[in-house]
Amino acid sequence: MQIMNEKYIYRCLQLARLAEYYVAPNPMVGAILVQHTEQGDKILGEGWHMQYGGPHAEPNCIANAEHAHPQGIDYKSCTLYVNLEPCSHYGKTPPCAELIIRKGIGRVVVGMLDPNPQVAGRGVRMMQEAGVDVQVGVLEKECFELNKRFVCLHTQHRPYVILKWAQTADGYIDVARDSGVPLIISTPLTKQLVHQQRAENMAIMVGTRTVILDNPRLLNTRWSGRNPIRITQDRHHVLPEDSNIFSDQSPTIVYRDNTEWTHVLSDLAKRNIHSVLVEGGAILLQNIIDSGLYDEVHVEVSQYSLLQSVGKLLQGVEAPKYVFSTQPTIVDGNLIYVEYKNGF
Ligand SMILES: NC(=O)c1ccc[n+]([C@@H]2O[C@H](COP(=O)([O-])OP(=O)(O)OC[C@H]3O[C@@H](n4cnc5c(N)ncnc54)[C@H](OP(=O)(O)O)[C@@H]3O)[C@@H](O)[C@H]2O)c1
Repeated sequence: MQIMNEKYIYRCLQLARLAEYYVAPNPMVGAILVQHTEQGDKILGEGWHMQYGGPHAEPNCIANAEHAHPQGIDYKSCTLYVNLEPCSHYGKTPPCAELIIRKGIGRVVVGMLDPNPQVAGRGVRMMQEAGVDVQVGVLEKECFELNKRFVCLHTQHRPYVILKWAQTADGYIDVARDSGVPLIISTPLTKQLVHQQRAENMAIMVGTRTVILDNPRLLNTRWSGRNPIRITQDRHHVLPEDSNIFSDQSPTIVYRDNTEWTHVLSDLAKRNIHSVLVEGGAILLQNIIDSGLYDEVHVEVSQYSLLQSVGKLLQGVEAPKYVFSTQPTIVDGNLIYVEYKNGF
């Protein structure tokens, strides 16, 4: 039974991920309806939460199953598998737990409880009180990992934070800018992978000097999905109004009066932003590392020193101080280190 439960919850996770770039800040959820017969199991329908504000995975799954089986479904002999606890509250859509009860589904297997205080076990209780056989906690680690950003927002009341930078083999993220053109460390492929990260996270942040020196657009143009919300700081009101980050392709938030990291995090949480990718520069990244309030560090290290990269002796901008404890992977000749802080 446990092996079958895991197999079906794995399928839910696959379905959930289909909407990876479209549901934030909602969680990614997939559901399947399985009928158990003497001849074996039959999947009657599948569904997933496809976009923010749209119907949840459970009604989509049930609608698909009913469409495929117009002769009717014996719900009592079915199990609904879903990677996150069905909701119990009226939000943009009616409660999924209520739909499950109304359909008379015999059994429900839930990957993990919903950390959202509006649900937090209520969905499970509602179904159990109505006589549904409910099992909770199948592939919990995998379910948690898929929705770590959503879980972080609801349990830590701050967004999930990923720090990201690229540096030379001897630890520089750029040349000191009055001494030349910007240093290129990423390759076209690793740049594309950064755009994938921009699609995975709701927001992207850079420091004041990075906006001034690089004038980045901070959009996602090399991967599917949305542009991230752009964030920066400007405590001395020095950012030019025509900076690329103020383009109308995506919203931009600028912290002026209070640029402290703890304030930025709590304000982003209030705005329901569940994740932020911080792409430098060194001062902003070091501030965040020193605060301890981050969850992952992704660093790309080229195989060349600053001198080898630019061909002459120039002053460099030192990378943040960070000691890697993991082994890197190699992409296009560059080393990619990914470090996870131990949970939150
Ligand atoms: N290789 C990479 O991955 C990468 C990525 C991004 C950038 N870069 C490079 O990094 C360089 C810029 O980095 P950077 O380290 O000089 O600057 P930065 O981190 O982009 O910005 C730092 C500035 O932010 C302002 N700031 C606002 N709030 C602050 C606070 N609470 N605490 C401290 N500072 C605060 C400060 O300016 P005020 O004192 O004026 O407020 C500070 O000088 C550029 O050369 C850029 O090309 C490289």
